[in-house]
Order: sequence, then C-alpha cells, then structure tokens
Amino acid sequence: MNVHFTVNGEEREAAVQGPESLLFVLRERLGLLGAKDACEQGECGSCTVIVDGDLVCSCLVMAADAEGTEVLTVEGLATEDELHPVQQAFVEHGAVQCGFCTPGFVVATAHLLEHQPAPTEPEIREALSGNICRCTGYGALLRAVQSMGGASP
Ligand code: FES
Ligand code: FES
Repeated sequence: MNVHFTVNGEEREAAVQGPESLLFVLRERLGLLGAKDACEQGECGSCTVIVDGDLVCSCLVMAADAEGTEVLTVEGLATEDELHPVQQAFVEHGAVQCGFCTPGFVVATAHLLEHQPAPTEPEIREALSGNICRCTGYGALLRAVQSMGGASP
C-alpha cells in the first residue's frame, strides 16, 4: 500500500509494506535521516518526531497509521539559511557530542517550548525523560533549554 501524509509541510506519498514503522519509512523511503534508529523499542527517543502535534517515537508508529497525518521531523525545523533556535542553543551550549541523540532532543525541546515557553528545571527533565544521551551528562542539554526561557529551579 501507499501512505499519503504531509511531511515537513509537503504532501508526500510512500510505499509501505506490512508492519513497517513510520521511522523506517521516513528514513528508507523518504530519505529523511534525521530521526535516528537506535533501539526500535520506544526506549531512547532518538527517533522522536511530531505527528499531528503529538510527540511520538516514530519507531513505535506503524507507517500505515500515518495516513492523512501531519508529520514534523527535525529536517522541518531549520530553514535553508538559519538553524532553529533550539538547534542554535544546543550549539552555543555544547549540548552535542556524537550527535546521535540530538535530533530527538531538538524535536522534543521544540515541542516542549511550543507548549510551555518557560518550563522549570523539573518540567524540562520530565519532558526530556524519554530521550537518552549516551555521551553527555545532560547538564549542557539542560542549560541549552534553560537559555531559551526555561526558569531556574
Ligand atoms: S529508536 Fe525509537 S525510541 Fe529508540
Ligand atoms: S551526543 Fe552522543 S548520544 Fe547524545
């Protein structure tokens, strides 16, 4: 079957076979490699995207269920000329090491700040608790988010 959906503002169509995940289809059929494939079990958040306004692990969403939805991936955040403010904050605070987890964190942070422009530290920690980084101690990530309006504890 083919799935028809809007991805980063563009109407797209992609072939889907059986129980393939949204993550697989984004990466392998549409060439959007930002969402990363790490655990495929909903444990690490590296595949985080936004579907119809909700933050989801795209490895847990069946691609067939994405029919008619609006999907936003990390590729849809920056413009050609400018990083998204969350990406800029991550760069400025050194919140990136190997970068594998970064797209998921960026999407989750953008979603958080859209709904809660000045989250407290506990709220930031809670909102990002589904995203795992194997490189950093989370301090730089926290400072990057706080620099964008997050309140101090
Ligand atoms: S790859 Fe989806 S949560 Fe880890
Ligand atoms: S920067 Fe390497 S996993 Fe997070």
